[in-house]
Amino acid sequence: MAQAEEKEENHVLLVAFSSQGHINPMLRLGKRLAAKGIHVTLATTEIARHRMLKSSGAGPADLVTGIELLFYSDGLSLDYDRKTNLDVYMDSLGKHGPSNLSSLIKEHYPSPKKLLCIVTNPFVPWVSDVAAEYNIPCAMLWIQPCALYAIYYRCFNKLSAFPTLTDPDMVVELPGLPSMEEEDLPSFALPNNPFGSFPKLFSEVFQGMEKFKWVLGNSFYELEKHVIDSMCELYPIRPIGPLVPPTLLGQDQELENASVDMWKSDETCIEWLTQQPPSSVIYVSFGSIVVLPAKQMEAIATALKNVKRPFLWVVKPPEFPTPDGAGQLPSRFLEETKDQGQVVRWSPQTRVLSHPAVACFITHCGWNSLLETICSGIPLIAYPQWTDQPTNAKLIVDVFKIGVRIKKEVDGNISSEVIEKCIEEVMVGPVAEQLRKNAMALKAEGRKAVAAGGSSDENIRLFVEEISGNSS
Ligand code: UDX
Repeated sequence: MAQAEEKEENHVLLVAFSSQGHINPMLRLGKRLAAKGIHVTLATTEIARHRMLKSSGAGPADLVTGIELLFYSDGLSLDYDRKTNLDVYMDSLGKHGPSNLSSLIKEHYPSPKKLLCIVTNPFVPWVSDVAAEYNIPCAMLWIQPCALYAIYYRCFNKLSAFPTLTDPDMVVELPGLPSMEEEDLPSFALPNNPFGSFPKLFSEVFQGMEKFKWVLGNSFYELEKHVIDSMCELYPIRPIGPLVPPTLLGQDQELENASVDMWKSDETCIEWLTQQPPSSVIYVSFGSIVVLPAKQMEAIATALKNVKRPFLWVVKPPEFPTPDGAGQLPSRFLEETKDQGQVVRWSPQTRVLSHPAVACFITHCGWNSLLETICSGIPLIAYPQWTDQPTNAKLIVDVFKIGVRIKKEVDGNISSEVIEKCIEEVMVGPVAEQLRKNAMALKAEGRKAVAAGGSSDENIRLFVEEISGNSS
Protein backbone atom coordinates (compact mmCIF):
# COMPACT_ATOMS: atom_id res chain seq x y z
CA MET A 1 0.00 0.00 0.00
CA ALA A 2 2.77 2.40 0.98
CA GLN A 3 4.46 1.58 -2.31
CA ALA A 4 1.25 2.27 -4.29
CA GLU A 5 0.89 5.64 -2.56
CA GLU A 6 4.49 6.53 -3.21
CA LYS A 7 3.95 5.61 -6.87
CA GLU A 8 0.95 7.90 -7.09
CA GLU A 9 2.69 10.75 -5.33
CA ASN A 10 5.89 10.65 -7.31
CA HIS A 11 4.35 10.24 -10.69
CA VAL A 12 4.50 12.01 -14.06
CA LEU A 13 2.05 11.30 -16.87
CA LEU A 14 3.32 11.78 -20.42
CA VAL A 15 0.70 12.24 -23.15
CA ALA A 16 1.98 11.83 -26.71
CA PHE A 17 0.47 12.27 -30.15
CA SER A 18 0.40 8.79 -31.68
CA SER A 19 3.26 8.96 -34.17
CA GLN A 20 6.64 7.33 -33.80
CA GLY A 21 8.41 10.71 -34.01
CA HIS A 22 6.37 11.97 -31.03
CA ILE A 23 6.16 8.85 -28.85
CA ASN A 24 9.86 7.96 -28.94
CA PRO A 25 11.25 11.27 -27.67
CA MET A 26 8.56 11.20 -24.96
CA LEU A 27 9.56 7.69 -23.88
CA ARG A 28 13.21 8.73 -23.77
CA LEU A 29 12.30 11.74 -21.65
CA GLY A 30 10.39 9.24 -19.47
CA LYS A 31 13.55 7.17 -19.01
CA ARG A 32 15.53 10.24 -18.04
CA LEU A 33 12.89 11.22 -15.47
CA ALA A 34 12.81 7.63 -14.18
CA ALA A 35 16.60 7.77 -13.76
CA LYS A 36 15.99 10.72 -11.40
CA GLY A 37 13.55 8.69 -9.29
CA ILE A 38 10.20 9.57 -10.95
CA HIS A 39 7.50 6.98 -11.79
CA VAL A 40 6.38 7.45 -15.38
CA THR A 41 3.31 6.47 -17.43
CA LEU A 42 2.78 7.31 -21.10
CA ALA A 43 -0.68 7.67 -22.62
CA THR A 44 -1.37 7.78 -26.34
CA THR A 45 -4.20 6.72 -28.65
CA GLU A 46 -5.35 3.20 -29.53
CA ILE A 47 -4.05 3.48 -33.08
CA ALA A 48 -0.48 3.45 -31.71
CA ARG A 49 -1.14 0.20 -29.82
CA HIS A 50 -2.64 -1.27 -32.98
CA ARG A 51 0.47 -0.38 -35.04
CA MET A 52 2.89 -1.64 -32.37
CA LEU A 53 1.06 -4.97 -32.22
CA LYS A 54 1.07 -5.22 -36.00
CA SER A 55 4.79 -4.45 -36.23
CA SER A 56 6.11 -6.69 -33.47
CA GLY A 57 3.34 -9.08 -32.51
CA ALA A 58 4.20 -8.23 -28.90
CA GLY A 59 1.97 -6.36 -26.47
CA PRO A 60 3.03 -2.80 -25.59
CA ALA A 61 3.83 -3.94 -22.05
CA ASP A 62 6.59 -6.13 -23.50
CA LEU A 63 8.07 -3.36 -25.61
CA VAL A 64 9.08 -0.76 -23.08
CA THR A 65 10.24 -1.72 -19.62
CA GLY A 66 9.81 0.54 -16.64
CA ILE A 67 7.19 2.82 -18.24
CA GLU A 68 3.53 1.87 -18.12
CA LEU A 69 1.68 2.48 -21.40
CA LEU A 70 -2.01 3.45 -21.46
CA PHE A 71 -4.27 4.00 -24.46
CA TYR A 72 -7.43 6.00 -25.17
CA SER A 73 -9.61 6.34 -28.25
CA ASP A 74 -9.39 9.20 -30.77
CA GLY A 75 -13.00 8.48 -31.77
CA LEU A 76 -12.20 6.84 -35.13
CA SER A 77 -12.10 3.17 -36.10
CA LEU A 78 -8.65 1.54 -36.27
CA ASP A 79 -8.79 1.05 -40.05
CA TYR A 80 -9.64 4.72 -40.77
CA ASP A 81 -7.15 6.42 -43.17
CA ARG A 82 -5.92 9.13 -40.80
CA LYS A 83 -3.08 10.25 -43.07
CA THR A 84 -5.23 11.17 -46.07
CA ASN A 85 -7.98 12.67 -43.93
CA LEU A 86 -5.76 14.57 -41.52
CA ASP A 87 -8.36 17.28 -40.84
CA VAL A 88 -11.04 14.76 -39.87
CA TYR A 89 -8.51 12.91 -37.72
CA MET A 90 -7.33 16.00 -35.84
CA ASP A 91 -10.93 17.21 -35.36
CA SER A 92 -11.99 13.84 -33.97
CA LEU A 93 -8.94 13.70 -31.69
CA GLY A 94 -9.68 17.23 -30.43
CA LYS A 95 -13.35 16.35 -29.88
CA HIS A 96 -13.07 12.90 -28.25
CA GLY A 97 -9.52 13.02 -26.86
CA PRO A 98 -10.18 15.30 -23.85
CA SER A 99 -13.04 13.26 -22.35
CA ASN A 100 -11.42 9.91 -23.13
CA LEU A 101 -8.10 10.97 -21.62
CA SER A 102 -9.90 12.43 -18.62
CA SER A 103 -11.72 9.11 -18.01
CA LEU A 104 -8.44 7.24 -18.34
CA ILE A 105 -6.86 9.48 -15.72
CA LYS A 106 -9.80 8.98 -13.33
CA GLU A 107 -9.66 5.24 -13.84
CA HIS A 108 -5.94 4.98 -13.14
CA TYR A 109 -5.35 7.60 -10.47
CA PRO A 110 -7.71 7.68 -7.48
CA SER A 111 -6.36 11.16 -6.61
CA PRO A 112 -5.22 12.66 -9.94
CA LYS A 113 -4.12 15.95 -8.45
CA LYS A 114 -1.29 14.12 -6.71
CA LEU A 115 0.36 13.70 -10.12
CA LEU A 116 3.47 15.88 -10.17
CA CYS A 117 2.98 16.93 -13.76
CA ILE A 118 1.50 16.05 -17.14
CA VAL A 119 3.95 16.44 -20.02
CA THR A 120 2.43 16.66 -23.48
CA ASN A 121 3.55 17.54 -26.98
CA PRO A 122 2.33 20.18 -29.43
CA PHE A 123 -0.13 18.16 -31.53
CA VAL A 124 -2.41 17.54 -28.57
CA PRO A 125 -2.62 21.05 -27.05
CA TRP A 126 -5.97 20.31 -25.34
CA VAL A 127 -4.14 18.05 -22.87
CA SER A 128 -3.31 21.21 -20.90
CA ASP A 129 -7.08 21.72 -20.33
CA VAL A 130 -7.44 18.17 -19.02
CA ALA A 131 -4.50 18.84 -16.69
CA ALA A 132 -6.16 22.07 -15.50
CA GLU A 133 -9.41 20.16 -14.79
CA TYR A 134 -7.52 18.15 -12.16
CA ASN A 135 -5.27 20.99 -11.08
CA ILE A 136 -2.15 19.20 -12.31
CA PRO A 137 0.75 21.36 -13.58
CA CYS A 138 1.41 20.89 -17.27
CA ALA A 139 4.61 20.97 -19.34
CA MET A 140 5.12 20.78 -23.09
CA LEU A 141 7.85 18.75 -24.76
CA TRP A 142 8.60 20.60 -28.00
CA ILE A 143 9.73 17.82 -30.35
CA GLN A 144 11.17 19.95 -33.16
CA PRO A 145 14.23 22.24 -32.95
CA CYS A 146 14.06 25.15 -30.52
CA ALA A 147 14.42 27.32 -33.65
CA LEU A 148 10.94 26.22 -34.77
CA TYR A 149 9.49 27.06 -31.38
CA ALA A 150 10.98 30.56 -31.67
CA ILE A 151 9.74 31.01 -35.26
CA TYR A 152 6.16 29.90 -34.52
CA TYR A 153 6.03 31.92 -31.30
CA ARG A 154 7.09 35.09 -33.12
CA CYS A 155 4.85 34.36 -36.09
CA PHE A 156 1.74 33.74 -33.97
CA ASN A 157 2.35 36.76 -31.72
CA LYS A 158 3.23 38.96 -34.73
CA LEU A 159 6.57 39.90 -33.15
CA SER A 160 8.44 39.81 -36.48
CA ALA A 161 7.56 40.28 -40.12
CA PHE A 162 6.76 37.12 -42.08
CA PRO A 163 5.90 36.68 -45.78
CA THR A 164 2.37 37.61 -46.77
CA LEU A 165 0.35 36.95 -49.92
CA THR A 166 1.32 40.41 -51.16
CA ASP A 167 4.99 40.04 -50.20
CA PRO A 168 5.67 36.29 -50.42
CA ASP A 169 9.41 36.63 -51.11
CA MET A 170 10.46 38.76 -48.17
CA VAL A 171 13.56 37.71 -46.25
CA VAL A 172 12.79 36.95 -42.61
CA GLU A 173 15.17 38.23 -39.93
CA LEU A 174 14.80 36.72 -36.46
CA PRO A 175 16.99 36.99 -33.36
CA GLY A 176 19.39 34.09 -32.97
CA LEU A 177 18.80 32.74 -36.50
CA PRO A 178 20.31 33.32 -39.94
CA SER A 179 18.28 35.33 -42.50
CA MET A 180 15.65 33.07 -44.00
CA GLU A 181 14.09 33.04 -47.44
CA GLU A 182 10.87 31.33 -48.40
CA GLU A 183 12.62 27.99 -49.03
CA ASP A 184 14.04 28.04 -45.47
CA LEU A 185 10.84 28.77 -43.58
CA PRO A 186 8.60 26.09 -42.10
CA SER A 187 5.74 25.44 -44.51
CA PHE A 188 3.18 26.32 -41.83
CA ALA A 189 4.58 29.85 -41.53
CA LEU A 190 4.07 30.54 -45.26
CA PRO A 191 0.99 32.47 -46.39
CA ASN A 192 0.05 29.99 -49.11
CA ASN A 193 0.28 26.80 -47.05
CA PRO A 194 -2.74 24.55 -47.59
CA PHE A 195 -3.64 24.57 -43.89
CA GLY A 196 -4.43 28.29 -43.74
CA SER A 197 -2.40 31.34 -42.78
CA PHE A 198 -1.22 29.85 -39.49
CA PRO A 199 -2.57 26.35 -38.90
CA LYS A 200 -5.28 26.00 -36.28
CA LEU A 201 -3.27 23.43 -34.40
CA PHE A 202 -0.28 25.68 -33.79
CA SER A 203 -2.59 28.62 -33.05
CA GLU A 204 -4.18 26.55 -30.29
CA VAL A 205 -0.74 25.83 -28.82
CA PHE A 206 0.51 29.40 -28.92
CA GLN A 207 -2.66 31.08 -27.75
CA GLY A 208 -2.70 28.88 -24.65
CA MET A 209 0.98 29.09 -23.74
CA GLU A 210 0.25 30.23 -20.18
CA LYS A 211 -1.20 26.76 -19.54
CA PHE A 212 2.29 25.31 -19.89
CA LYS A 213 4.38 25.98 -16.84
CA TRP A 214 7.46 24.58 -18.58
CA VAL A 215 8.48 24.20 -22.21
CA LEU A 216 11.11 21.50 -22.63
CA GLY A 217 12.99 21.16 -25.93
CA ASN A 218 14.38 18.04 -27.59
CA SER A 219 17.67 19.74 -28.33
CA PHE A 220 20.77 20.82 -26.43
CA TYR A 221 21.96 24.26 -25.47
CA GLU A 222 25.29 24.04 -27.27
CA LEU A 223 23.50 23.20 -30.54
CA GLU A 224 21.01 26.08 -30.56
CA LYS A 225 22.30 28.52 -27.97
CA HIS A 226 21.56 31.77 -29.84
CA VAL A 227 17.94 30.99 -30.55
CA ILE A 228 17.40 29.49 -27.07
CA ASP A 229 18.81 32.66 -25.52
CA SER A 230 16.58 34.76 -27.78
CA MET A 231 13.49 33.19 -26.16
CA CYS A 232 14.58 33.81 -22.55
CA GLU A 233 12.70 37.10 -22.27
CA LEU A 234 9.61 35.83 -24.10
CA TYR A 235 8.61 32.27 -23.18
CA PRO A 236 11.77 30.29 -22.39
CA ILE A 237 12.42 26.84 -23.75
CA ARG A 238 14.60 24.51 -21.71
CA PRO A 239 16.61 22.02 -23.79
CA ILE A 240 16.80 18.52 -22.30
CA GLY A 241 17.98 16.46 -25.29
CA PRO A 242 19.13 15.00 -27.51
CA LEU A 243 16.47 12.37 -26.79
CA VAL A 244 18.01 9.56 -28.83
CA PRO A 245 18.84 5.95 -27.86
CA PRO A 246 21.53 5.86 -25.15
CA THR A 247 23.81 3.74 -27.37
CA LEU A 248 24.21 6.82 -29.60
CA LEU A 249 25.27 8.81 -26.56
CA GLY A 250 27.84 6.39 -25.21
CA GLN A 251 25.50 5.66 -22.29
CA ASP A 252 24.62 2.03 -23.06
CA GLN A 253 25.52 0.83 -19.59
CA GLU A 254 23.65 3.48 -17.67
CA LEU A 255 20.33 4.01 -19.39
CA GLU A 256 18.13 1.52 -21.16
CA ASN A 257 16.57 2.54 -24.48
CA ALA A 258 12.85 3.20 -24.67
CA SER A 259 11.22 3.24 -28.06
CA VAL A 260 8.42 1.64 -29.96
CA ASP A 261 8.45 0.67 -33.61
CA MET A 262 5.32 1.23 -35.59
CA TRP A 263 6.86 -0.75 -38.45
CA LYS A 264 8.90 -3.92 -38.34
CA SER A 265 12.52 -3.16 -39.18
CA ASP A 266 14.50 -5.29 -41.59
CA GLU A 267 17.59 -6.41 -39.67
CA THR A 268 19.22 -7.99 -42.72
CA CYS A 269 20.56 -4.59 -43.71
CA ILE A 270 22.90 -4.63 -40.70
CA GLU A 271 24.51 -7.87 -41.97
CA TRP A 272 24.78 -6.27 -45.40
CA LEU A 273 26.38 -3.12 -43.95
CA THR A 274 28.95 -5.25 -42.17
CA GLN A 275 30.15 -6.51 -45.55
CA GLN A 276 30.73 -2.97 -46.87
CA PRO A 277 33.99 -0.98 -46.56
CA PRO A 278 34.18 1.63 -43.75
CA SER A 279 32.57 5.01 -44.58
CA SER A 280 31.34 3.88 -47.99
CA VAL A 281 27.54 3.60 -47.80
CA ILE A 282 24.99 6.30 -48.65
CA TYR A 283 21.97 5.86 -46.37
CA VAL A 284 18.68 7.23 -47.78
CA SER A 285 15.46 7.59 -45.79
CA PHE A 286 12.54 10.00 -45.63
CA GLY A 287 11.08 9.13 -42.23
CA SER A 288 7.67 7.82 -41.37
CA ILE A 289 5.33 10.26 -43.17
CA VAL A 290 6.83 11.59 -46.42
CA VAL A 291 5.89 9.82 -49.66
CA LEU A 292 8.00 11.18 -52.55
CA PRO A 293 6.39 11.83 -55.96
CA ALA A 294 7.37 9.36 -58.69
CA LYS A 295 9.62 11.89 -60.50
CA GLN A 296 11.66 12.51 -57.36
CA MET A 297 12.00 8.77 -56.69
CA GLU A 298 13.27 8.46 -60.25
CA ALA A 299 15.88 11.23 -59.79
CA ILE A 300 17.22 9.67 -56.59
CA ALA A 301 17.34 6.22 -58.19
CA THR A 302 19.28 7.57 -61.22
CA ALA A 303 21.74 9.45 -59.01
CA LEU A 304 22.41 6.38 -56.84
CA LYS A 305 23.01 4.24 -59.93
CA ASN A 306 25.33 6.84 -61.47
CA VAL A 307 27.56 7.45 -58.46
CA LYS A 308 28.21 3.70 -58.28
CA ARG A 309 28.65 3.74 -54.50
CA PRO A 310 26.98 1.30 -52.10
CA PHE A 311 23.63 2.53 -50.79
CA LEU A 312 20.93 1.53 -48.33
CA TRP A 313 17.54 3.04 -49.21
CA VAL A 314 14.45 2.84 -47.04
CA VAL A 315 11.38 2.76 -49.28
CA LYS A 316 8.40 2.52 -46.96
CA PRO A 317 5.32 1.49 -48.94
CA PRO A 318 2.51 4.04 -48.56
CA GLU A 319 -0.04 2.83 -45.98
CA PHE A 320 -2.81 3.47 -48.51
CA PRO A 321 -2.12 3.01 -52.26
CA THR A 322 -1.32 6.15 -54.29
CA PRO A 323 -2.69 6.44 -57.83
CA ASP A 324 0.36 8.11 -59.41
CA GLY A 325 3.15 5.72 -58.39
CA ALA A 326 4.33 8.02 -55.59
CA GLY A 327 6.72 6.40 -53.13
CA GLN A 328 7.54 3.55 -55.51
CA LEU A 329 10.85 2.54 -57.03
CA PRO A 330 11.28 2.83 -60.80
CA SER A 331 10.83 -0.55 -62.49
CA ARG A 332 14.07 -2.54 -62.94
CA PHE A 333 15.90 -0.45 -60.28
CA LEU A 334 16.24 -3.39 -57.88
CA GLU A 335 17.47 -5.67 -60.63
CA GLU A 336 19.97 -3.10 -61.95
CA THR A 337 21.44 -2.33 -58.53
CA LYS A 338 21.35 -5.73 -56.85
CA ASP A 339 25.15 -5.81 -56.45
CA GLN A 340 25.39 -2.16 -55.47
CA GLY A 341 22.83 -1.56 -52.76
CA GLN A 342 19.97 -2.68 -50.55
CA VAL A 343 16.39 -1.48 -50.36
CA VAL A 344 14.39 -2.14 -47.20
CA ARG A 345 10.87 -1.18 -46.12
CA TRP A 346 11.98 0.04 -42.67
CA SER A 347 15.45 0.00 -41.15
CA PRO A 348 16.74 -0.13 -37.58
CA GLN A 349 17.82 3.47 -38.27
CA THR A 350 19.80 4.30 -35.17
CA ARG A 351 21.88 1.13 -35.63
CA VAL A 352 22.36 1.99 -39.28
CA LEU A 353 23.53 5.53 -38.60
CA SER A 354 26.09 4.43 -36.04
CA HIS A 355 27.42 1.62 -38.26
CA PRO A 356 31.03 2.28 -39.36
CA ALA A 357 30.15 1.47 -43.01
CA VAL A 358 27.77 4.45 -43.28
CA ALA A 359 29.31 7.57 -44.83
CA CYS A 360 26.41 10.01 -45.18
CA PHE A 361 22.63 10.30 -44.96
CA ILE A 362 20.22 11.65 -47.60
CA THR A 363 17.33 12.73 -45.39
CA HIS A 364 14.05 14.63 -45.37
CA CYS A 365 15.43 16.38 -42.25
CA GLY A 366 12.90 15.13 -39.69
CA TRP A 367 14.18 16.34 -36.34
CA ASN A 368 14.55 12.85 -34.84
CA SER A 369 16.60 11.69 -37.82
CA LEU A 370 18.69 14.81 -37.56
CA LEU A 371 19.46 14.39 -33.86
CA GLU A 372 20.27 10.71 -34.44
CA THR A 373 22.69 11.71 -37.21
CA ILE A 374 24.31 14.41 -35.08
CA CYS A 375 24.88 11.82 -32.37
CA SER A 376 26.42 9.47 -34.93
CA GLY A 377 28.82 12.14 -36.20
CA ILE A 378 28.14 11.76 -39.94
CA PRO A 379 27.37 14.42 -42.57
CA LEU A 380 23.97 14.90 -44.20
CA ILE A 381 22.45 15.64 -47.57
CA ALA A 382 19.29 17.57 -46.86
CA TYR A 383 16.21 17.03 -49.00
CA PRO A 384 13.44 18.72 -46.98
CA GLN A 385 9.76 18.39 -47.87
CA TRP A 386 7.45 20.30 -45.55
CA THR A 387 6.66 21.45 -41.97
CA ASP A 388 9.90 22.06 -39.98
CA GLN A 389 12.11 20.27 -42.53
CA PRO A 390 13.09 23.30 -44.71
CA THR A 391 14.25 25.18 -41.59
CA ASN A 392 16.06 22.10 -40.32
CA ALA A 393 17.88 21.97 -43.67
CA LYS A 394 18.88 25.62 -43.26
CA LEU A 395 20.24 24.82 -39.77
CA ILE A 396 22.18 21.81 -41.12
CA VAL A 397 23.92 23.88 -43.79
CA ASP A 398 24.33 27.35 -42.27
CA VAL A 399 24.31 26.90 -38.50
CA PHE A 400 25.50 23.38 -37.65
CA LYS A 401 27.60 23.23 -40.85
CA ILE A 402 27.31 19.44 -41.12
CA GLY A 403 25.78 19.00 -44.56
CA VAL A 404 24.71 20.23 -47.97
CA ARG A 405 21.26 20.74 -49.43
CA ILE A 406 19.70 19.38 -52.62
CA LYS A 407 18.26 22.44 -54.33
CA LYS A 408 14.97 22.03 -56.18
CA GLU A 409 14.48 23.18 -59.76
CA VAL A 410 11.99 26.02 -60.42
CA ASP A 411 9.25 23.47 -61.20
CA GLY A 412 9.71 21.87 -57.76
CA ASN A 413 11.45 18.76 -59.08
CA ILE A 414 15.05 17.69 -58.53
CA SER A 415 17.64 16.68 -61.06
CA SER A 416 19.73 13.56 -60.61
CA GLU A 417 22.87 15.57 -61.49
CA VAL A 418 22.34 17.87 -58.51
CA ILE A 419 21.97 14.86 -56.20
CA GLU A 420 25.12 13.27 -57.63
CA LYS A 421 27.04 16.49 -57.03
CA CYS A 422 25.84 16.66 -53.42
CA ILE A 423 26.86 13.04 -52.83
CA GLU A 424 30.37 13.62 -54.16
CA GLU A 425 30.68 16.82 -52.12
CA VAL A 426 30.01 15.06 -48.81
CA MET A 427 31.98 11.92 -49.66
CA VAL A 428 35.34 13.20 -50.96
CA GLY A 429 37.51 16.31 -50.90
CA PRO A 430 38.06 19.23 -48.52
CA VAL A 431 34.35 20.06 -48.04
CA ALA A 432 33.66 16.46 -47.03
CA GLU A 433 36.56 16.50 -44.61
CA GLN A 434 35.39 19.72 -42.94
CA LEU A 435 31.78 18.48 -42.69
CA ARG A 436 32.96 15.27 -41.03
CA LYS A 437 35.08 17.23 -38.55
CA ASN A 438 32.14 19.48 -37.68
CA ALA A 439 29.84 16.45 -37.33
CA MET A 440 32.25 14.72 -34.94
CA ALA A 441 32.57 17.89 -32.86
CA LEU A 442 28.77 18.20 -32.52
CA LYS A 443 28.52 14.52 -31.61
CA ALA A 444 30.93 15.14 -28.72
CA GLU A 445 28.91 18.20 -27.59
CA GLY A 446 25.67 16.20 -27.64
CA ARG A 447 27.18 13.49 -25.46
CA LYS A 448 28.50 16.07 -23.01
CA ALA A 449 25.07 17.73 -22.74
CA VAL A 450 23.33 14.57 -21.49
CA ALA A 451 26.17 13.22 -19.36
CA ALA A 452 25.99 13.80 -15.59
CA GLY A 453 26.29 17.53 -14.95
CA GLY A 454 25.94 18.47 -18.66
CA SER A 455 23.58 21.26 -19.78
CA SER A 456 20.61 18.99 -20.57
CA ASP A 457 21.13 16.76 -17.55
CA GLU A 458 21.11 19.86 -15.33
CA ASN A 459 17.89 21.07 -16.97
CA ILE A 460 16.20 17.73 -16.25
CA ARG A 461 17.45 17.82 -12.66
CA LEU A 462 16.01 21.32 -12.29
CA PHE A 463 12.69 20.27 -13.83
CA VAL A 464 12.39 17.29 -11.44
CA GLU A 465 13.25 19.57 -8.53
CA GLU A 466 10.57 22.07 -9.58
CA ILE A 467 7.77 19.56 -10.19
CA SER A 468 8.59 17.89 -6.90
CA GLY A 469 8.30 21.29 -5.17
CA ASN A 470 11.88 21.12 -3.90
CA SER A 471 13.27 24.16 -5.66
CA SER A 472 14.42 27.05 -3.53
C1 UDX B 1 7.75 13.96 -38.08
C2 UDX B 1 7.92 15.12 -39.09
O1 UDX B 1 7.75 14.68 -40.42
C3 UDX B 1 9.27 15.79 -38.91
O2 UDX B 1 9.38 16.89 -39.80
C4 UDX B 1 9.40 16.32 -37.49
O3 UDX B 1 10.66 16.93 -37.31
C5 UDX B 1 9.20 15.17 -36.50
O4 UDX B 1 7.95 14.51 -36.74
P1 UDX B 1 9.14 11.88 -39.31
O5 UDX B 1 8.87 12.38 -40.66
O6 UDX B 1 8.72 10.52 -39.00
O7 UDX B 1 8.67 12.90 -38.16
O8 UDX B 1 10.75 11.95 -39.20
P2 UDX B 1 11.78 11.88 -38.03
O9 UDX B 1 11.59 12.97 -37.04
O10 UDX B 1 13.09 11.81 -38.65
O11 UDX B 1 11.45 10.51 -37.28
C6 UDX B 1 11.55 9.27 -37.89
C7 UDX B 1 11.92 8.23 -36.84
O12 UDX B 1 11.74 6.95 -37.42
C8 UDX B 1 13.38 8.33 -36.40
O13 UDX B 1 13.48 8.15 -35.02
C9 UDX B 1 14.05 7.18 -37.14
O14 UDX B 1 15.12 6.58 -36.44
C10 UDX B 1 12.93 6.20 -37.31
N1 UDX B 1 13.12 5.41 -38.53
C11 UDX B 1 13.00 5.99 -39.75
C12 UDX B 1 13.42 4.07 -38.41
O15 UDX B 1 13.55 3.55 -37.30
N2 UDX B 1 13.58 3.35 -39.55
C13 UDX B 1 13.47 3.87 -40.78
O16 UDX B 1 13.62 3.12 -41.75
C14 UDX B 1 13.16 5.24 -40.90
